[in-house]
Amino acid sequence: MRAAVLQAVGDKHLDLCYDIEMVEPTSHEVVVRITHTGICHSDVSAMNGTIPQDVPCVLGHEGAGVVEAVGSEVTATQPGDHVIAVWSPPCGQCEVCLVHQKPNLCSAIMYHPDRLRPPFSQGGTDIAAMARTGTFTEYTVLYEHGVVKIDDDIPLDIASLVGCGVMTGVGAAINTAKVQPGSKVVVFGAGGVGVSAIQGARIAGAAEIVAVDINADKFDKIKEFGATHAVIPEELDDLKSELTSGHGFDYAFECIGIPSVMRTAYEQTRRGGTCCIVGVGRLDEFVQFNAFELFYNEKKLIGSYYGGVDARVDFHRLLRLWRHGQLDLEGMISRRLTFDQINDGIDAVRRGEVVRQVVEF
Ligand code: APR
Ligand code: ZN
Repeated sequence: MRAAVLQAVGDKHLDLCYDIEMVEPTSHEVVVRITHTGICHSDVSAMNGTIPQDVPCVLGHEGAGVVEAVGSEVTATQPGDHVIAVWSPPCGQCEVCLVHQKPNLCSAIMYHPDRLRPPFSQGGTDIAAMARTGTFTEYTVLYEHGVVKIDDDIPLDIASLVGCGVMTGVGAAINTAKVQPGSKVVVFGAGGVGVSAIQGARIAGAAEIVAVDINADKFDKIKEFGATHAVIPEELDDLKSELTSGHGFDYAFECIGIPSVMRTAYEQTRRGGTCCIVGVGRLDEFVQFNAFELFYNEKKLIGSYYGGVDARVDFHRLLRLWRHGQLDLEGMISRRLTFDQINDGIDAVRRGEVVRQVVEF
């Protein structure tokens, strides 16, 4: 089958292969025919070493498709079901899921032995899958908790986006930071994740939503998603003075993954406000805070992992918002690509040109 493989960390392009094989599913696994996959900046981050990744590896972690086969013990889905892949699925039974009530942080399935074995191979060589999901492929094999069944009438292109970028951004606003009605919000980075944070803030009732991006060509488009203002970084201080009397924003979301921007997001947050880090930076890069300001400013500095998702609940919440016109998913698709165009898509992400691109198999 076809799959886009990262052969070595640092490679600029993926190896488009046509001879990839998949392991047999275990009794608790599901084979999914991937119909659509989004290209997320995290795929590029796996290529350049920002996100640690075993290689060779089938990239992609934002996908949807149709269940092809299920293992003998699988009860929640059956062949023919339309599903979204979940790259960090909850087991629903452990202390993290039940006592801490943080199903997005459950690692029981993430590190389940079934999920640790490489799902693909090529000529006898094992091939891993990004986040053990690997959606840049025609078929993938997922643990049963790693799929969420959705209604058959939901287009699978928009469903695929819910699997990572949309959930990550909307969830950061409504689950993690819990944006309040009437508040002032700034979002750094207007890619798929940032635009979703903008939409999440709008859904939560924010009064002012400022988008900050180095690519001003995107500004008209970004406002269609609910940003009330869009500026380049150099213009932000003036706008902060105008909108907040210089106090800063109630909420700041960093949706890029750059330490200096994380620091700026903290500075743009008002005393007592919330600075939410959504972007994924490198393990060997650091953000500095002086030991006085953390006390003095009383700002809440919080990370957001996968938008605080409980995939079993939140994917459906987002799709209901979409169904009733409150979450624009179609508008987020900047380009539709074929498998052979995946590397063009990756280049466009690197240039910061797009909101989201969907690959159709
Ligand atoms: N200042 C402002 N905007 C910037 C800067 C900067 N220094 N550098 C890049 N940008 C903008 C780009 O122009 C682009 O519009 O940030 C946006 C990033 O969008 P994408 O590349 O599409 O990234 P996305 O898929 O949204 O992911 C964002 O979230 O999940 C994580 O790993 C992911 O860290 C990444 C982040
Ligand atoms: Zn992603």
